[in-house]
Amino acid sequence: MRVYLRTFSLCIVIALLSLVFLFSKHDAESFSAVLKHVRAPLEPSVAKNLNGATKSKQRPTATTSHRPRDVAHKVTSPGQRETMQLAVVACGERHGEAVNMLKTAATLSSRALRFHIFAEEQLHTSIKTALDSWPAFIRAKFSYIVHPISYPHENHKEWSQLFKPCASQRLFIPMILKEVDSLLYVDTDVLFLQPVELIWDMLTHFNSTQLVAMAPEHEEPRIAWYSRFSRHPYHGKTGINSGVMLMNLTRMRMTQFKNDMTSVDLHWDELLMPLLQKYKLNITWGDQDLINIIFHYNPEMVFSFPCHWNYRPDHCIYGSNCIPAEEEGVLMLHGNRGVFHSDKQPAFKAVYNAFKHYIFGQDLIKSFLLPLEAALNGTTHTYCGKVSHFFTRGLGKSVRKIQRMLPAGG
Ligand SMILES: *[C@@H]1O[C@H](CO)[C@@H](O)[C@H](O)[C@H]1NC(C)=O
Ligand SMILES: *[C@@H]1O[C@H](CO)[C@@H](O)[C@H](O)[C@H]1NC(C)=O
Ligand SMILES: *[C@@H]1O[C@H](CO)[C@@H](O)[C@H](O)[C@H]1NC(C)=O
Ligand SMILES: *[C@@H]1O[C@H](CO)[C@@H](O)[C@H](O)[C@H]1NC(C)=O
Repeated sequence: MRVYLRTFSLCIVIALLSLVFLFSKHDAESFSAVLKHVRAPLEPSVAKNLNGATKSKQRPTATTSHRPRDVAHKVTSPGQRETMQLAVVACGERHGEAVNMLKTAATLSSRALRFHIFAEEQLHTSIKTALDSWPAFIRAKFSYIVHPISYPHENHKEWSQLFKPCASQRLFIPMILKEVDSLLYVDTDVLFLQPVELIWDMLTHFNSTQLVAMAPEHEEPRIAWYSRFSRHPYHGKTGINSGVMLMNLTRMRMTQFKNDMTSVDLHWDELLMPLLQKYKLNITWGDQDLINIIFHYNPEMVFSFPCHWNYRPDHCIYGSNCIPAEEEGVLMLHGNRGVFHSDKQPAFKAVYNAFKHYIFGQDLIKSFLLPLEAALNGTTHTYCGKVSHFFTRGLGKSVRKIQRMLPAGG
């Protein structure tokens, strides 16, 4: 018995040591690779947390057999330099919001971007006019394409009326953008507070079964929506929020998904209609609920990233409950429930307006960062205002770095 125990603990120690070695090696590699391309600040703690999230989500056995090889391959492959593909769906009044989101991505990112904007026909002109009006040094960072809204013909009506107009469009993106390997989908009411490349590089941290990355819907199961009210299965302890969704579309098209409708696994495009039929009377948040049901049955496909990549009023409205944001600042801000436009959460609105009113070419510190900090100082009567230094922490550093790289007098 004792011999067995000793051998066992020796094995554990060796396994732990090799893990530590592999991770430190990998951290250093991917971190320097990120730094090389980003040319914008990345707090070491951010990278650490990202890797930490991966680590804690993986069984050690899987880690030793899969990750190092995958990662080593990815880091040296040209994949990192690939254009980052960013998608948004804009309908109704949402196009101004979408353009502001794209503005934050273009302002803060250094790597090449391609925007896929799905929008109702009548919005195309104004979206194109807005993007074409940006100065050449910003235009040089991205290309874009405006797509019409399209649904499978036979079920057009049903899909287009689910939840909000057009919200379910994103479920069909893997089939529409057949040539695109990977894509970051964001809701229109999202703002980047750090370069897009930081989230994009999470793709290289996926293990062999993961094909989407999202944040939990809530940090606290006792007050979370899904665990208290939903009438359908959901992912994890609190469900997932689909407002920021990083996808390997190649894998989504290839993979067959377990489900509770048939005994056979189904491809993504075969899955959606039966799912809607089965659950349409029970879902509240439309496409996000469907995504939760799908990944409830396929949890190994989800890379779950921490809340500061999808920071919502829920994280501060009654006091701060997103610990990574306290430690590393907010990386992406998600103003759901209309808070960018109402007066309910003035701290969220202040960030939205600071980007909206910033004119490209003006000094980012004088004309963007300082006015934003002043506006946030006026919101400290709210809980979210009290923690609004989380919003400007990484943003301030990024903006200072970008400003230093801009041509003088520009
Ligand atoms: C829908 O909700 C009802 C009431 O909670 C429940 O009885 C039913 O099983 C649910 N339907 C599905 C398909 O889960
Ligand atoms: C997406 O998955 C496919 C198939 O596994 C893989 O070849 C590709 O490199 C992945 N894309 C990224 C950006 O990791
Ligand atoms: C990948 O990670 C997920 C989430 O942590 C896990 O459930 C799954 O088993 C992992 N897959 C492999 C092949 O290790
Ligand atoms: C905002 O408040 C902080 C703390 O009181 C202060 O240090 C900072 O100078 C203020 N910023 C602006 C722009 O007013």
